[in-house]
Amino acid sequence: MLVEIERILPGGVGLAHADGKTIFVSLSATGDRVRVSIDREQGNLLFASVAEVIAPGPDRIEPPCPYFGRCGGCDFQQLTYQAQLTAKADIIKDCLHRIAKLETPDFGVVPSPNAWHYRARATWQLDPEQQTIGYYERGSRRVCDVADCAVLVPELQKTLERVRDTQRPDQVKHLDVVTGDSGTSLAPGFAGFEASEVTLTVQGETYRYNAEAFFQINQQLLPELLEYALGQVGGETALDLYSGVGLFTLPLARRFKRVTAVESNAIATRFARKNLGNAGLENVNVVTDTVADWIRSFAVKNRRVDFVLLDPPRAGAESAVIKGILDLRPAQICYVSCDPATLARDLKKLVAGGFRIESLCGFDMFPQTHHVETVVHLFR
Ligand SMILES: C[S@@+](CC[C@H](N)C(=O)[O-])C[C@H]1O[C@@H](n2cnc3c(N)ncnc32)[C@H](O)[C@@H]1O
Repeated sequence: MLVEIERILPGGVGLAHADGKTIFVSLSATGDRVRVSIDREQGNLLFASVAEVIAPGPDRIEPPCPYFGRCGGCDFQQLTYQAQLTAKADIIKDCLHRIAKLETPDFGVVPSPNAWHYRARATWQLDPEQQTIGYYERGSRRVCDVADCAVLVPELQKTLERVRDTQRPDQVKHLDVVTGDSGTSLAPGFAGFEASEVTLTVQGETYRYNAEAFFQINQQLLPELLEYALGQVGGETALDLYSGVGLFTLPLARRFKRVTAVESNAIATRFARKNLGNAGLENVNVVTDTVADWIRSFAVKNRRVDFVLLDPPRAGAESAVIKGILDLRPAQICYVSCDPATLARDLKKLVAGGFRIESLCGFDMFPQTHHVETVVHLFR
């Protein structure tokens, strides 16, 4: 089947139409004329792959990585970097419009300082039988054996090479790995590789963490992200929900009299307390709990909150969390999201609950993939 790609959709696939059908084409570029092979059919929707590029669109480039297409890690290498940024802005707009019926104010996507070799955290999949290590292949649980990953920071590329040269225990099926200003932490540890502590200094704050706790993937873009998310905020009380090891908690503690940080991973909250202690900050209550469980009882006590920052995982905030935030009636909310679709779902409820979008901005935390970070400021 021959089709022309009209635009890139949320999920990163290209949209095309033919024979009364809607076709989603993976690894395509706007303006491409391609022959596609159909992978899956669902009513009037076809899911397809590019079999042959008949005429490339203006955004198409030759993907430089030899694993591209097979490895499930990157799905935007076929696009110029400018086209990736444009597609991500369109994805954010599309989600907010389609899912939440919200018009977006003017916004852009802040580029990553490095479009390659930016990734300071990764999960490597292992197949003990095949002795392979890398990422899952596209649409499968087979491990794509990767010797050289074009998006890893050099420190992690070196670690990947050392792990590849080391006998791995058969029971280890995946490895979490993270780096900072120096050193690497790897979990689960084996043969001299450890979940040791690493540190990173961002905008004057020093964070300690390891591979067992979440830390942001693209560390080069963190100053811009923090600057935009926190801007000029300040006041009496702030909440940092889904707070990890305290990336936002430390700067919030300098701007507000009292801060409560809530995070379910006990390893992350241990690091958060340590990071606050090392910074001499004593005005933060770090809670190890799910945000949904915690906010129910907090909201019942009718506490006053000026500012809520929430940075949930891809699934977004649970309904109980949105309800809890609305019950607290903060003056301002900052929603940091790594999934525009769940962000749109949650914004719809916040706007229905009396908030309006003041501003938003995209951050290209994940170049060469369709993923994008969005930060939204909401006022009541
Ligand atoms: C996207 S990360 C953000 C972490 C932190 N704000 C940062 O920027 O480093 C989401 C965090 O939410 C935590 N988390 C996931 N589900 C949670 C839940 N139901 N309640 C509380 N924390 C949760 C994860 O462990 C992770 O640390």
